[in-house]
Amino acid sequence: MTTPPPAPQAVLAPLTESAVFLSIVVPPGGEETVRGLLPDLAGLTRSVGFRVPDEALTCVAGIGSDLWDRLFDGPRPAELHPFREVTGERHTAPSTPGDLFLHVRALRMHPCFELARLVTDRLGGAARVVDEVQGFRYFDNRDLLGFVDGTENPTGRGAAAAVLIGDEDPDFAGGTYVMVQKYLHDLAAWNALTVEQRELAVGRRQLDDVELDDETKPADSHVALTTIEDPDGTEREILRDNMPFGSLERGEFGTYFVGYAATPEVPERMLTRMVVGDPPGSSDRILEVSRAVTGGLFFVPSQDLLDDPPPAPATSTPARAAATAVPAPTAPAETPGSGSLGIGSLR
Ligand code: HEM
Repeated sequence: MTTPPPAPQAVLAPLTESAVFLSIVVPPGGEETVRGLLPDLAGLTRSVGFRVPDEALTCVAGIGSDLWDRLFDGPRPAELHPFREVTGERHTAPSTPGDLFLHVRALRMHPCFELARLVTDRLGGAARVVDEVQGFRYFDNRDLLGFVDGTENPTGRGAAAAVLIGDEDPDFAGGTYVMVQKYLHDLAAWNALTVEQRELAVGRRQLDDVELDDETKPADSHVALTTIEDPDGTEREILRDNMPFGSLERGEFGTYFVGYAATPEVPERMLTRMVVGDPPGSSDRILEVSRAVTGGLFFVPSQDLLDDPPPAPATSTPARAAATAVPAPTAPAETPGSGSLGIGSLR
């Protein structure tokens, strides 16, 4: 009997109406806490999700390149590296801090928030959330630029083939890579354009979402630059889970870009074409009004690997355990039989 391939995390789950994206930095000393948390993520997701079965709650965890080496011994995912900043003549896609990435989604925000809260609670002082984005569905899956976002995503078997690692890296089969970037839009500048100018920037019609024909679609439109092929003509795809987000207080209107792929080379090629242009100089028109302010690349292990992670690096385990030992609680012991709950004022 052949062994079934490792089960992936919920990367192929459909777009939902709400999501929380957390980028987390793990300072030295926090490794043991993270190692303890990863196999418990599925259980924490069940603790929240079982109480709201109609919410389609899922949580995907990604691990950055540096943290991977601090957490695990043995082989590492073949293509895991830190996010590579891309700079063109006029635009930059920066690389920003992040050791762990969490993509929590559900129909409504409250289960996402509750699960994210439980996870950050478990991390305690061992890690720091450096970027939190709460994404929402905007009408018929539109981004805040007003265009339907996600139409050309692969589905079914095509999605699995684009996203999941197979025999090319057998130790990490069932895993995937995720590239994330937070974009802020200059909506005033965008809305000052005519509908036709906006459609030429994106490469699709705004109202009915139909792709412009090849004669009309400019080479520096978003769709033209992100449609890529191998030399043999095979189109390469990624699975995008972009979500709008915003803050009226901060005057922020954004798109959180999330791209899953079996190799980071594919979204990296797309991003380079957007930022640098092809030919160089003809960068993506949507970058005229959209600025990337974060950038991260993470490996998303299979669910099987997350549940049973590789051993810790042999050299540093005892020292790390000592450094991260949580001091025993100092609250005075309750007298047995006193009837006290021992929680703050609930005595
Ligand atoms: C400001 C950020 C972004 C916005 C607002 C945005 C929006 C859109 C929209 C409206 C479409 C057309 C509909 C669709 O097929 O989904 C699209 C297509 C696409 N985008 Fe983006 N996108 C952004 C960033 C990116 C980035 C960073 C990448 C890759 C690194 C990317 C890759 C793609 C791909 C592969 C397609 C499908 C092209 C096709 O086959 O037609 N996008 N995006």
